[in-house]
Amino acid sequence: MLVVFDSLTGQTKRFANNLGFNTVHVKLYEETDDDIFLVTRSINFGQIPETTKDFLENYKHKVIGCAVSGNMNWGANFGMAGVKIENIYKIPLVKKFEGSGFKSDVEFVKNWILEKTKKEDKWVWIKEKI
Ligand SMILES: Cc1cc2nc3c(=O)[nH]c(=O)nc-3n(C[C@H](O)[C@H](O)[C@H](O)COP(=O)(O)O)c2cc1C
Repeated sequence: MLVVFDSLTGQTKRFANNLGFNTVHVKLYEETDDDIFLVTRSINFGQIPETTKDFLENYKHKVIGCAVSGNMNWGANFGMAGVKIENIYKIPLVKKFEGSGFKSDVEFVKNWILEKTKKEDKWVWIKEKI
């Protein structure tokens, strides 16, 4: 599992690092066999950053889920980039969080990733046995 993050001022990066997996900035990603969890941010009235869009155009098939940073002051556009990613790229939005997130946000996402990868490991194991 690799966490790919898109961060300008560092908040999203901090959240990504707190998840406890290897992390890499979206612009420095080089393809590996690892599944990816994406942590990105909302900009300009709920838009997806261009850097995230470029990454998704190339690698969306490797991304198992995403979490998105935002600020509730943006009202209905809070975390809206995550909703757009879910709708356009069919990648589950696991969590919207403010800034670099609360500890509970980090734990929620970490547990989601662990559960998801555990189930998939089991499925691979079952397929190998039958
Ligand atoms: C110009 C600008 C536009 C933003 N637009 C939104 C927005 O539409 N919705 C939202 O939830 N947050 C918005 N934000 C807040 C950022 O998503 C938030 O501060 C995020 O934590 C920044 O991540 P970073 O520190 O990793 O760059 C905006 C911030 C800036 C500076």
